[in-house]
Amino acid sequence: MHIVITGANRGIGHAMAERARAAGHQVTGTAREPVDDLVALDVTDPVSCGALAEHLQDHPVDLLVCNAGIYPDKGQPLETGYPAAMWAESFATNVTGVFLCIQSLLPNLRAAQGAKIAIISSQMASHTLAPGGSYIYRASKAAALNLGRNLAADLAPEGIAVGIYHPGWVRTDMGGDAAEISVDEAADGLLARFAALDMAATGCFQTWDGRDHPY
Ligand SMILES: NC(=O)c1ccc[n+]([C@@H]2O[C@H](COP(=O)([O-])OP(=O)(O)OC[C@H]3O[C@@H](n4cnc5c(N)ncnc54)[C@H](OP(=O)(O)O)[C@@H]3O)[C@@H](O)[C@H]2O)c1
Repeated sequence: MHIVITGANRGIGHAMAERARAAGHQVTGTAREPVDDLVALDVTDPVSCGALAEHLQDHPVDLLVCNAGIYPDKGQPLETGYPAAMWAESFATNVTGVFLCIQSLLPNLRAAQGAKIAIISSQMASHTLAPGGSYIYRASKAAALNLGRNLAADLAPEGIAVGIYHPGWVRTDMGGDAAEISVDEAADGLLARFAALDMAATGCFQTWDGRDHPY
């Protein structure tokens, strides 16, 4: 299987790339500042997304994992925080970036038999989990969830399945040292979820360990 993973230079994306390669898959990992065999991609930049598609030429993509994301508004004060530029950057990365990657690689996904798209959202996308704070991240991940649900409807006639996932609270730069699970646990769980994704499950919102998450 040929798997494309965005944000594969560190964190959960890096672990997914390593584990998928170890399982024998061909992996195209992307990074804003690529090293080794990573391919350059800034998901906020349509030109960069187009260049990734050009790099892949007509090579089929069996699984696209939209993993790249940012969470800059942790701990922002309601009264003085959440500047407009932070909203713009977060939506450009966590929402528009997901859309641009999928749109750019549609020909490659269509060239594969039964291609799949995995969007890494968060449990913080759910309106059932609203303790307050982190407005930008929550709203952007909710938008990514909504995007995935609607893409699932549009791509169903073509047999392309779309899943949306919460990776767990993971020990990465984003998740912090106190988080509950390691990147390898998250990556193994997510890769198992992607393998199980089929047209019957398209549009699902699931956790890394296989539970359906309320929208
Ligand atoms: N960790 C958690 O507990 C947790 C929980 C729920 C959801 N998630 C989601 O899981 C995904 C991975 O998170 P993580 O914990 O692995 O985060 P991380 O360690 O902070 O890594 C984020 C990755 O996204 C990349 N990225 C950021 N902006 C980008 C852009 N404009 N273009 C391309 N790549 C970009 C980063 O690249 P650079 O190195 O260039 O910055 C990095 O590779 C994210 O979508 C996150 O929201 C994480």
